[in-house]
Amino acid sequence: MIDDDHSAPLLRVHGITKSFAGVQALKGVDLEVRAAEVHCVLGQNGAGKSTLIKVLSGVHQPDGGVIEWQGEQISIAHPVAALGLGIATMYQELDVVDGLTIAENIFLGHERSAGGMLKVAEANRATRELLLRLGHGNLSPSTEVGRLSAANKQIVSMARALSHDTKLIIMDEPSAVLDSEEVRNLFRVIRELTSQGVAVVYISHRLEEIRQIGDRITVIKDGRSMAVGLSARETPTPDLITLMTGRAVANVFPARVPVPADAPVLIDVSDLTLRGQFTNVSLSVRAGEIVGLAGLVGSGRSEILETIYGARKASGGQVSVGGTRLKPGSVRSAVHAGIGLAPEERKSQGLILDEPVYRNVTLSTFARFARGGFLDERRERQVSLEQMQALELRPAVPERTTRTLSGGNQQKVLLARWLVHGTKVLLLDEPTRGVDVGARAEIYALIRQLAAAGTAIILVSSEIEEVIGLADRVLVIGDGEVLSTTYAHDIDERGVLDLVMKGAAA
Ligand SMILES: Nc1ncnc2c1ncn2[C@@H]1O[C@H](COP(=O)(O)OP(=O)(O)OP(=O)(O)O)[C@@H](O)[C@H]1O
Ligand SMILES: [Mg+2]
Repeated sequence: MIDDDHSAPLLRVHGITKSFAGVQALKGVDLEVRAAEVHCVLGQNGAGKSTLIKVLSGVHQPDGGVIEWQGEQISIAHPVAALGLGIATMYQELDVVDGLTIAENIFLGHERSAGGMLKVAEANRATRELLLRLGHGNLSPSTEVGRLSAANKQIVSMARALSHDTKLIIMDEPSAVLDSEEVRNLFRVIRELTSQGVAVVYISHRLEEIRQIGDRITVIKDGRSMAVGLSARETPTPDLITLMTGRAVANVFPARVPVPADAPVLIDVSDLTLRGQFTNVSLSVRAGEIVGLAGLVGSGRSEILETIYGARKASGGQVSVGGTRLKPGSVRSAVHAGIGLAPEERKSQGLILDEPVYRNVTLSTFARFARGGFLDERRERQVSLEQMQALELRPAVPERTTRTLSGGNQQKVLLARWLVHGTKVLLLDEPTRGVDVGARAEIYALIRQLAAAGTAIILVSSEIEEVIGLADRVLVIGDGEVLSTTYAHDIDERGVLDLVMKGAAA
C-alpha cells in the first residue's frame, strides 16, 4: 500500500553529507522510500543524485548522516554489502564488462555461483529467464556484451540487478540510453517489480516519465533535498522546475532565425544508401539551417549521421560539402571538409573520461594549438575555459578529470569541442541526452546560436518534440526511408507518428 503513511519505510536517509577533494557533493540529503513504490529523485546536472545513489549502493562512504534500512540503522561498507541487504543498482555510467558474455556479466562474483565457480549451463539458463522477463528473449546469454547497443547493455545491467534477491532497485537515468519503445518496456518491468513489493528509486531528467511511472518525488538541489516525498501525479511541473533550479524556466526552444535566401548549401546528401539500413536518403542543408531527423528506434537515424560522417561506408549515393564530393567511408575526408559529429554515446564514442576536460574540448583540434611541434597547453586551457563558461559548464575548471563531471556536464564538454573546432557542418546525435531542464534550454540556445553563426546542422533525437522545436525543417524517417520533408512549423508530434505508423503499415 503506497498511501499508508504509517507503514515503516523500507529506507530512510537523513542528513547525508559527502565531500570529494574540493567539492561538497552532498550537503544534507533526506530521502524516504517505501516498499512497492517508485520514488523519483529529481535535480539538475551536478545536484548530487548519482553521489547519493553511490552512498546507498556502498560505492561511497558518507561523511555524515544516518541510513536506516527496514527500521534499523546501518552502514553500507561496500557494494556487495548493499546487494546482501537487497539493494541493487543500475549505474548511470553503464558498468557492464565488454569482454564478457551476457551471462558472465550477470553471474560472475554472484552468490549463486558456488565457490566463485560459474556453472555455465546454469548461468545461461538463468540468464535466458531474466532476459525473457525483461522482454528481451531475443538476446543470447553467450553474446559478448561489447557487441551490444547501449540499450541492450542497459538490459544486461537490469538483468543483473534482478538476479539478486532485491527489495530495492536503484536506476540512475536508465531511460537516457533507451528509445520510447524501450522505455515503455522498462516501465512494464518496473510495474511488475512494484506489484511484487519491490521498491524502485528512479532518476530521470524527463518529467513526463516521472508522471507516468512515479509515485513520489524527492528533489535535490546543490547537494540538499529541497522537498521529500511529493506526489508525483499532483505536483505541478512549474513547481518541480522551480524547486530544482531555483527559477522558472520558460520557453525552452529558442526563436528560429530565418535562413537568408542566398545562404549557400553547405552539405548535400543525395541518394545515400547503406544496404540493410537505409535507402536513397537525400537532403541538403544551408548555412544557418537546422534540419532534424525524426523517427522511431531502428529507423536508421543514427546510421544516416554515421554514414555522412564516413564512419560507415555508404553502398550508394554521395555526400558533398561545399561542392566537393567526400570519399565514402572516410572520416578523415569528412573532418577535412569541415564535418563534425557529436555522437549518441558520449562515453564510448566521444570522451576520454580519464583526461582533463580541456583535453577533451581541444581533442581533434590539436594542430591548431601546436606551435612548432609543442602543444601550447596554456592556450588550450584558456580556449577551453572560455567555451566552458559560455556553456555554463559546472565546475568551469579545465583541469578537472572529465569522469568526475556530472552526466549533463559531460555532454556540454562534447558540444564545447565543436564550438572550438569551428565546424561547417555539425551532426548532432541526441545532444541533450541526460541533460537537465535548465541546461537543456542553454544547449538549445547554443545550437541555434551556432546555426545563426553560419553552421549547417543535422539533428537526430528520439524526442520528437525536440526535433520539431529546434529544427527549421524536419525529415521523417521510417524504415530507412525519408517519408516526408516539411517545415518544422507545418508538423507536430502527432503528424510525425501518423507518418511513421502509416509507413510501418505500408
Ligand atoms: N569522484 C568525484 N570526484 C570529485 N567530484 C565528484 C565526484 N563525483 C561527483 N563529483 C561532483 O559532485 C557533484 C554531484 O555530482 P553527481 O554526479 O552526483 O550529480 P548528478 O545529480 O548525478 O548529475 P547528472 O544529472 O548530471 O548525472 C558534481 O559537482 C560532481 O562534479
Ligand atoms: Mg548523475
